[in-house]
Amino acid sequence: MRNTPTLLQLKNLQHNVYTMLDDDWMLVTAGSLESFNTMTASWGGFGVLWNKPVAFVFVRPTRHTYQFMERSEVFTLSFFREESRDILQFCGKYSGRDTDKVKATGLEPLPSPAGSVIFGQSLMALDCRKIYTSDIDPAKFLDSSIQRNYPAHDYHRMYIGEILSQLSEQNIAEITTKQPL
Ligand SMILES: Cc1cc2nc3c(=O)[nH]c(=O)nc-3n(C[C@H](O)[C@H](O)[C@H](O)COP(=O)(O)O)c2cc1C
Repeated sequence: MRNTPTLLQLKNLQHNVYTMLDDDWMLVTAGSLESFNTMTASWGGFGVLWNKPVAFVFVRPTRHTYQFMERSEVFTLSFFREESRDILQFCGKYSGRDTDKVKATGLEPLPSPAGSVIFGQSLMALDCRKIYTSDIDPAKFLDSSIQRNYPAHDYHRMYIGEILSQLSEQNIAEITTKQPL
C-alpha cells in the first residue's frame, strides 16, 4: 500500500483534519447523479486500516442519507471554502426527504470517478468505497455520558470507506469542463 498515488496525495494534504471536520464540516453524499442525497457531517475521521487509506463517517438511521449510504457501494466526502458555509448549514438543517437541496443551495452535482457524486463548488473531495459498517452499540459505552447524544436512541451506523481517490479543486474543475453542454 505504501505510497500509492492516492496515499501520496493524502500524505501531502495541506489541511488540518480536525479543522476540516470540526470547524469546516463536510458533505457526505451517496447515490448516483440520477438519484442521490447529501448531508452535512462533522463526526468522523481519517486513517489507515487493513493497509488501506480510510475515512470513517457516522450516519444516524433517521437521516434520509442513510438509505442512500445503505444502497450505494461508494460515497463521497466534499469539503468547501468558508464562502460556501450557507450550503453546509442548509444541508445540515433540512432533509432531502422534503427538500431539494440542490435547487435550494445551488450545489452543482458532478460525477465522481467511482460513479458517485461530488460538487463543483468543492475545494476537495474524496471518493470512498464502503468496506465495513458497524452500528454504535450502547451496551459498549465505557463512558455513560456518551448516551446524552442519543435521546432518540438513533445510534449512528459507522461506515468505513477505502479512499479511492482524492480530488483537488483543479481535478474537480476538470470534471466540470468535461461536462457536455
Ligand atoms: C455541523 C453539522 C454536523 C453534523 N454532523 C452529522 C453527523 O456526523 N452525522 C449525522 O448523522 N448527522 C449529522 N448532522 C445532521 C444532518 O446533517 C442533518 O440531520 C441533515 O438534515 C440530514 O439530512 P438528510 O435527512 O437529507 O440526510 C450534522 C449537522 C450539522 C449542522
